[in-house]
Amino acid sequence: MNAGVKNDDRETIADVSTEEFVRVMVTNSLSPLRVVEAFHDLVKPRGTIGVMSSGQGSVTNNVNGNYEVYRGSKAALNMFMRSFAARHANDPRTLLLMAPGWVRTDMGGPEASLSIEESIPNLLDTMEAYEGRSGLYYLDYLGRVVPW
Ligand SMILES: NC(=O)c1ccc[n+]([C@@H]2O[C@H](COP(=O)([O-])OP(=O)(O)OC[C@H]3O[C@@H](n4cnc5c(N)ncnc54)[C@H](OP(=O)(O)O)[C@@H]3O)[C@@H](O)[C@H]2O)c1
Repeated sequence: MNAGVKNDDRETIADVSTEEFVRVMVTNSLSPLRVVEAFHDLVKPRGTIGVMSSGQGSVTNNVNGNYEVYRGSKAALNMFMRSFAARHANDPRTLLLMAPGWVRTDMGGPEASLSIEESIPNLLDTMEAYEGRSGLYYLDYLGRVVPW
């Protein structure tokens, strides 16, 4: 599950419109879980369900408060995946929340530190390294555990 959106970087929770807040939350938090809930049974029993989160979804690492609407949507995504994992505690499938780093895409912009080639092949290697492990893991593109 990779789709995601962000709001204007300059908008804080104090000034974001309700409509924009709902758009970001529905796209980044609710919709991925709708897909996971609807299709997880179709994934092979030892297969992997990977969801693109973000390092910004870490509550622990939020020391500057930037991008707070987007951050909140990814933190909520992480929380919903934890609930999904808890409700499927005996499921052998691997559940991954991935943080790709800051990547030069339409969303990341031209100033981002990583090219797609520097991020995504490593992210895929990390996903493959976790194949066959049951449970939920929050990892970055270099395989480092991200604090919740
Ligand atoms: N770039 C970064 O630095 C960065 C960092 C951390 C996490 N991420 C996450 O990585 C994922 C991919 O982001 P990106 O950087 O590749 O952004 P992007 O270039 O803006 O691409 C976002 C993708 O999501 C799709 N999408 C958005 N809303 C959708 C909807 N309602 N229904 C279906 N598809 C929708 C878009 O489809 P259309 O083109 O058809 O609109 C597009 O393919 C996102 O979840 C993002 O939050 C990105």
